[in-house]
Amino acid sequence: MNKQQTTNTSATLRLRSGQALSAGNKQPTTNTSASLSAGNQQPTTNNKQQNLLITGGAGFIGSNFTHYYGQHHPGNKVVVLDALTYAGNKANLAGLESPENFLFVKGDICDRPLVEKLLAEEEIDVIAHFAAESHVDRSILGPDAFIRTNVVGTFTLLEAFRQHWQEQGKPEDYRFLHVSTDEVFGSLGPEDPQFTETTPYAPNSPYSASKAGSDHLVRAYFHTYGLPTLITNCSNNYGPYHFPEKLIPLMCINILLGKPLPVYGDGENVRDWLYVGDHCAALDVVIEKGKVGETYNIGGNNEVKNIDLVRMLCTLMDELAPQLPVSPAEKLITFVKDRPGHDRRYGIDASKIQRELGWSPSQTVESGLRSTIEWYLQHRDWWGPLLSQEYKAYYEEMYNRR
Ligand code: NAD
Ligand code: DAU
Repeated sequence: MNKQQTTNTSATLRLRSGQALSAGNKQPTTNTSASLSAGNQQPTTNNKQQNLLITGGAGFIGSNFTHYYGQHHPGNKVVVLDALTYAGNKANLAGLESPENFLFVKGDICDRPLVEKLLAEEEIDVIAHFAAESHVDRSILGPDAFIRTNVVGTFTLLEAFRQHWQEQGKPEDYRFLHVSTDEVFGSLGPEDPQFTETTPYAPNSPYSASKAGSDHLVRAYFHTYGLPTLITNCSNNYGPYHFPEKLIPLMCINILLGKPLPVYGDGENVRDWLYVGDHCAALDVVIEKGKVGETYNIGGNNEVKNIDLVRMLCTLMDELAPQLPVSPAEKLITFVKDRPGHDRRYGIDASKIQRELGWSPSQTVESGLRSTIEWYLQHRDWWGPLLSQEYKAYYEEMYNRR
């Protein structure tokens, strides 16, 4: 890999990170987040050299995956491409320290010349595509960015990767992993069976519609061009580096600050919680052993009503956090106006990935929440700066003017 900072032909700033994959030293780090994200899963045994492009690697799941991959595949090269939107944060990649193996590039997945250049120069053979606008509430406030990044961005990556793959003679071991969501399947009734890989698509929000559109594009590139694609649809993740706008970090931080805990509607909506370290292990297995053209559902087998989850968080916080401003924390629970079009229930049937690839989640919601709360208690220096003026303006619009 070229060690010098290269001249950038596009308008996008290109940075070589001073930080590195711990795996460059062939040792796992002692970084708390990395150990947490690695979870209790066994490393996979893929010894094949891979050059991996991780899009959205400075976001929540992408950064956990970057840590995970570095630990479990020490010899492989990782390039992170991330636009560093409000949700992207280079601090999420702290502890990665081997310039030989790691490159961070600030850039947009919609920038085709940049993507083409990276694929060629870094000799990429696997793309793990996480980059997206990911928050349902923001997609209701302003859908434009969701269509641009999630649909046009995915299309741009697919086209660039198709060209690269064809130029290299269509190698059989190239992979395009598209990380998607269970929200594309719509909403379940209380007695409905969980989503399987064959559940018809029925997206209900601008976010889920944009993810559904990108899933269809990926599927079409396999069927039309034979591009070696893989799609995963997973349930709600939680764990380290989760941006404060999402339910679990928002509630944890509000409890620590003594602020109201805004529960939408009647609080009876159900989500199926997946610890992010378990998700990373699943994605690693899909890249290694997944059958091209297939989709795999990934879930935590942890369906919980929102109100029950918030009460669990309160109880755990009462136990783990010293001197809360309001105690017991449950006193802060406040029911607020519902999210428009709020999906009632998600539940993932993950039996296919378990049966075919041997993956299953290792964390219960209780064990995962405990680890997550401990992480947030130990990392005030990470989340404090995220409560910026921009975030406060979002919070004001979303909650105080609800
Ligand atoms: P996130 O919002 O935390 O991170 C998204 C990352 O993408 C950020 O680092 C951001 O800077 C980057 N990004 C956004 N637009 C970009 C662009 N145009 N070019 C380059 N980078 C860009 O998201 P997340 O929660 O980590 O989700 C990652 C992926 O997993 C998304 O595709 C999401 O749809 C999917 N997913 C998330 C969950 C979940 O519970 N968080 C569940 C299912 C699926
Ligand atoms: O299911 C997978 C999806 O999970 C991902 O595709 C999305 O990227 C991810 O953001 C997440 O979407 P949700 O809308 O389910 O997550 P969120 O954390 O926003 O909300 C979880 C539930 O909690 C949902 O029913 C809405 C509710 N909620 C959320 C917030 C932020 C509240 O009651 N109060 C809140 O303040």
